[in-house]
Amino acid sequence: MGSRASAPKVVTVNELRNRAQFNARSCKEVKDKYGQTENGLYYLTTASGVVYKTFCDMTTAGGNNIYGKCTVGDRWTSQQGNNANWPQGEGNWANRKTFGTVKAATDDDFKNPGYYDIEAEDMSVWHVPNNTPVNHWNLAAIMRYHTDRRFLHLYRGNLYQLFHSYPVEYNVGAHLSNNGPSIPIVDDLGDKESTKNVYGPYSGGEIEGGFISFRDINHERSATAICFGVKPKSGNVEHYCIGGCGFFHEANPLQCGDFTGFAWNGYGTHIGFSASKQTLESAVFLFYC
Ligand code: G3P
Ligand code: CA
Repeated sequence: MGSRASAPKVVTVNELRNRAQFNARSCKEVKDKYGQTENGLYYLTTASGVVYKTFCDMTTAGGNNIYGKCTVGDRWTSQQGNNANWPQGEGNWANRKTFGTVKAATDDDFKNPGYYDIEAEDMSVWHVPNNTPVNHWNLAAIMRYHTDRRFLHLYRGNLYQLFHSYPVEYNVGAHLSNNGPSIPIVDDLGDKESTKNVYGPYSGGEIEGGFISFRDINHERSATAICFGVKPKSGNVEHYCIGGCGFFHEANPLQCGDFTGFAWNGYGTHIGFSASKQTLESAVFLFYC
């Protein structure tokens, strides 16, 4: 994976101003067209001419950061309560709404136009502790991994399209039989065991490490969006998959929220079905490659 361990570089205002003149739709294009190889902040332009600032992970074949999340705000599930009549919740996995800024992405939810605009083949994922400044994301990450099977070709190039095929919606199907794809990952920092061990010990018996999984459904027919680092083998997916629909039936409304049931046996206790504190206090960055 090349120079992933290189020291972070602070970009000067002048360099950033130069970067503002690039006209590219993806980080890969910035790299190919303008010879840029530094990880950092760049401007991209969508097909319809919207200019936005994003973080490019140039070491993983020009990855675009398209998504971050954290514990405040529940834009990746529902901000309007837990409600069976609100089956899709916010619907942000499959719409063109954007929110947040790249600078505050480890403090608050972030979704930029790249999420739906870029056509990619693979994804890279970084789990970064909250409040980490942007130039330290790579080094501060607690886990990093990527896919290399070009799976996004099968789903029309991005997650916006994938989640149109697999809606994150209450009551769309049954657990295990109607789950979306699980894609094998290649570890850049961490391994199958450490990636799995961020979840609670009870969860550990219900998951397989070494995957990223999409649209997994729980025992009560609630859909979650992404299971990071793992593939569910059971229907308590609310303890190892994040984001989701607008209604979680079990223990109403405890499991509804971006971090679903990650604190089922106490916040950050890492016992029972509870994930580790470090996991709850990290943002997840998705890059398209
Ligand atoms: O998701 C876990 C739940 O379905 C059962 O948990 O604590 O009642 O064993 P518990
Ligand atoms: Ca459950």
